[in-house]
Amino acid sequence: MLKVGFIGFGSITGAHLPGYQKLAREGIAQVEAYCDQDPLMLEKVTEGRVYTAIDDFLEGERGRLDAVDICLPTYLHADAAIRALEAGFHVMVEKPMALTYADAQRMCETAQKTGRTLMVAQCCRFSDFMTEAKKYMARRPFGRPITASFKRDFGRSLANRPTRGWFTQEALSGGAILDVHIHDADVMQALFGMPVSVSTGAMKVIPGDGYSLCATNYYYPSMFAQCTGGWAIANNSVYGRLSRIDFEYGHIIDTTVDGKRIFRACDYKGHLTDLTPAEPVDMYEREIRYFLGCVERGEPVSENPPEQSAQSIRIVRAEIESADNRGMCVTL
Ligand SMILES: NC(=O)c1ccc[n+]([C@@H]2O[C@H](COP(=O)([O-])OP(=O)(O)OC[C@H]3O[C@@H](n4cnc5c(N)ncnc54)[C@H](O)[C@@H]3O)[C@@H](O)[C@H]2O)c1
Repeated sequence: MLKVGFIGFGSITGAHLPGYQKLAREGIAQVEAYCDQDPLMLEKVTEGRVYTAIDDFLEGERGRLDAVDICLPTYLHADAAIRALEAGFHVMVEKPMALTYADAQRMCETAQKTGRTLMVAQCCRFSDFMTEAKKYMARRPFGRPITASFKRDFGRSLANRPTRGWFTQEALSGGAILDVHIHDADVMQALFGMPVSVSTGAMKVIPGDGYSLCATNYYYPSMFAQCTGGWAIANNSVYGRLSRIDFEYGHIIDTTVDGKRIFRACDYKGHLTDLTPAEPVDMYEREIRYFLGCVERGEPVSENPPEQSAQSIRIVRAEIESADNRGMCVTL
């Protein structure tokens, strides 16, 4: 039974906990300790050791836990992950990995140096869309990909935007382009590799927030792709999410219209195949299970290497540079 602790116990841990509860029932892992500077967040802990300071947690849990799940605000990821790795813990840290590529590289170097496992919780790599997309990319029933489009709007208006202060400060979260859109930048990299260059249009809608809306063209040697995303759409009455890959002879698409999910493949004759899995997939549970499985077996996290997560930060930073320069093409 692997022993795990949370550092940061805010909203995203609500998505992680059901996975840990399932793993505990299976005798695979147990959450034993929690750290959050806000004692109110720790009130929901019914069993386990609790801390309000990261230093105390790292000192008190050294040698007691195998791994930590870092769910702190983004600006604290790099420092906390490096200190946890150096204290001997395996580390899963929430996305985005860090605010800068340099910090992300430091995290990778520390994992190498300490021999501990580091994985970034880029949960979309563990979605059912990715499972199918990888099959279509590997087996090529529709030929090669020619274009792809991804859209991720959280429909947060100026009235219902993220309430916790750090999210809407560019210096702390990187804005929606880093916080939200990184999911699609990372999925694109996982499926198609590093783009040759990017060109981005983006808007600063919420004061102080950084880019709250963005649209990027990604250029590859034999295809291009488009991503749009953000958290400043006033109201999104049609859909908030789209993942689509167009191949030479068909496409796969995953979207939601009026609450109904459409997840299917369509060949060049218009023949449709429903790709919706029989059982709903919890991508958070999958990512935790995968991370802990790699820790248990002493294997590298090859499905989601931290070096690729760092490259996703580099991609988004290039997009920000492009947006700062009115869509100038930035080569990676
Ligand atoms: N994978 C996803 O789909 C997804 C979704 C939401 C958020 N996230 C990411 O997860 C991270 C956390 O987001 P959240 O929504 O849970 O934020 P949050 O603000 O709800 O939670 C952060 C928690 O960290 C605690 N904290 C802050 N500073 C601390 C410190 N110095 N020491 C100890 N505790 C401290 C806060 O009290 C808070 O409870 C962010 O990087 C965010 O981008 C990922």
